Amino acid sequence: MKIKINNKEIEVFVGEKLIEVAHSHGIEIPALCYAPGYQHQASCMVCVVKNLTTNQIIPSCTTLVTEGMEIDTESEEVKRLRTMSLELLLSDHIAVCRPPCNPKKCKLQKYAVAYHAKWNRYLRYSAIKATHPQHIKGNFWFDVTKCIRCGLCVYNSKDGFTFKDRGFGMQVVLPTESVINVDEFLCEICPTQALYLSEL
Ligand code: SF4
Ligand code: FES
Repeated sequence: MKIKINNKEIEVFVGEKLIEVAHSHGIEIPALCYAPGYQHQASCMVCVVKNLTTNQIIPSCTTLVTEGMEIDTESEEVKRLRTMSLELLLSDHIAVCRPPCNPKKCKLQKYAVAYHAKWNRYLRYSAIKATHPQHIKGNFWFDVTKCIRCGLCVYNSKDGFTFKDRGFGMQVVLPTESVINVDEFLCEICPTQALYLSEL
């Protein structure tokens, strides 16, 4: 079947996600809570696009292609909404990256720059305070102040990562050191390096 993205006709298959189709055709769509091949739920809303067929704004990471759909990924409206999503995430995030955070590996920082998102547009509804990173096990660390609650670690770890609370109080809770196995891939898919590997 066929769909159109930015007025360009593209051949697609049943079951494909919009974001995968776009990326495979070189169409850039930012994504924080999505990593190819991993379980995820749409939570960050930076991957939004406009479905011109239904006149709706939709997350491209969870939307499956349907025959004849027409999608816009690059209008000013779409870009403005992505910027707003980023600014909401930034409002609940420490403003200054600190070692060993590598800005080149932080997708939030990369997109914030690309979409001219302001760190202080919605300052500051939450009470996140700079705290010391938590040593988990071996070289494995967790910095709660960098976590954007995307859920990738929660949905993909076999070790019992969970969320507690809701809203601004929502936090990732890690299992105790005695039961955790260090899943290095979690540090790779964590979009902000809240989970990271570093020597003691
Ligand atoms: S620790 Fe990383 S992967 Fe886990 S919820 Fe936070 S930002 Fe997402
Ligand atoms: S990447 Fe789609 S909602 Fe986060």
